[in-house]
Amino acid sequence: MLDLIILTLHFFICFLISIAIWYGLKDVDSHSSSTAGAEMRPDGLVFIGKEDDIKKSQRITAKIDGREIVVFYHEGKFHALDSRCYHEGGPLCRGEIEDIDGQACIVCPWHKFKITLETGEGLYEGINPQEPSPTPKWQSKGVKQRIHKITIDNGNVYVSPPDFSVSFDSDYYAEIYKNGGELAIAKPSHLEATE
Ligand code: FES
Repeated sequence: MLDLIILTLHFFICFLISIAIWYGLKDVDSHSSSTAGAEMRPDGLVFIGKEDDIKKSQRITAKIDGREIVVFYHEGKFHALDSRCYHEGGPLCRGEIEDIDGQACIVCPWHKFKITLETGEGLYEGINPQEPSPTPKWQSKGVKQRIHKITIDNGNVYVSPPDFSVSFDSDYYAEIYKNGGELAIAKPSHLEATE
């Protein structure tokens, strides 16, 4: 009898855990994001989604050869970036967009690094101690996040395959999370100690 009660409890707990995981994964779709499946055209462009659909959802994630990218539609323009932040791989697809010093930036949800949508530059606020009354100003760390070229054709949005002759800091985390999917929001265990 005791065995039966333990077995029933076990199944009940497993059921509750399954429900919790299900709701946790659904949270990935916050910020009106959605996931696209990527198809390649003969000219190499990768189909991301319908222009109108992305305009409505404002952001969409896709994979190019296993690499997670995110496409934002912001203030009339499309921008595509590696979805994993160059700092420690935070999911930029879940970040908020802010205007910083006149530039649209994605703010990483993990440690709030700011990355320009247009160029992939990392921004930081710094002061010049040489100035008589130093005031913080936004400065660029250089291009840190890989930007992907967008092509709109006949109502469809495409991204060009990455040009690996040039490397960016975000490549490291793009590789680590490759094939992890949009649902791989948590850090891999070997990165836990780095925060
Ligand atoms: S992982 Fe993006 S700011 Fe740290």
